[in-house]
Amino acid sequence: MNFKSMGVGMLVMLAITVIWTAVDVGRAWLSPAAFYIDPTDTERVDLGRRLYAAHCAACHGQKLEGQPNWRIRRANGRLPAPRHDESGHTWHHPDAVLFDITRHGMVPGRTAPADYASDMPAYEQILTDEEIIAVLAYIKSTWPEDIQQLQREVNQNAEQGGAR
Ligand code: HEC
Repeated sequence: MNFKSMGVGMLVMLAITVIWTAVDVGRAWLSPAAFYIDPTDTERVDLGRRLYAAHCAACHGQKLEGQPNWRIRRANGRLPAPRHDESGHTWHHPDAVLFDITRHGMVPGRTAPADYASDMPAYEQILTDEEIIAVLAYIKSTWPEDIQQLQREVNQNAEQGGAR
């Protein structure tokens, strides 16, 4: 190995890193597998906390406690907004699915059963992908370490082609 080939190798690695970063967000739906949102990224979490308060707290609660009786369908058949804290089921989903639901709402046949009607809005036109990732980083950062670990396993199972 000489300096020239090392240089080429480093350029290739740099190129890979750049491409990787560029497709980072796109991977969310192309390959749910490799998509991981880091809850220890404090800058993202701080941004996410502000965005959560402005966009999500009205339904999901200031303290992520959800709407009252969040497990019980309303008279119109729709569910209230669930909790995002550790007692809810947000952490049962891989990051790619949480991203998908926040960006597109609950999509029948993809993130919901066929003909499913839901009050969860789509944030595609309201938040950038980066902002959606920040909100989810904030939500994840509120979970205790054991729940964060369990959700990492959910992510890994999704990566191995398991159920979403
Ligand atoms: C207008 C009320 C409302 C707002 C505002 C809202 N949501 Fe929701 N959200 C819901 C409802 C209702 C559901 C449950 C949908 C269902 O199961 O039918 C839901 C479900 C979800 C789920 C799926 C949770 C699970 O355990 O399956 C995620 C993730 C989510 N919302 C994220 C967000 C985020 C992030 C924001 C802010 C950017 C947000 N929501 C803002 C009403 C809302």
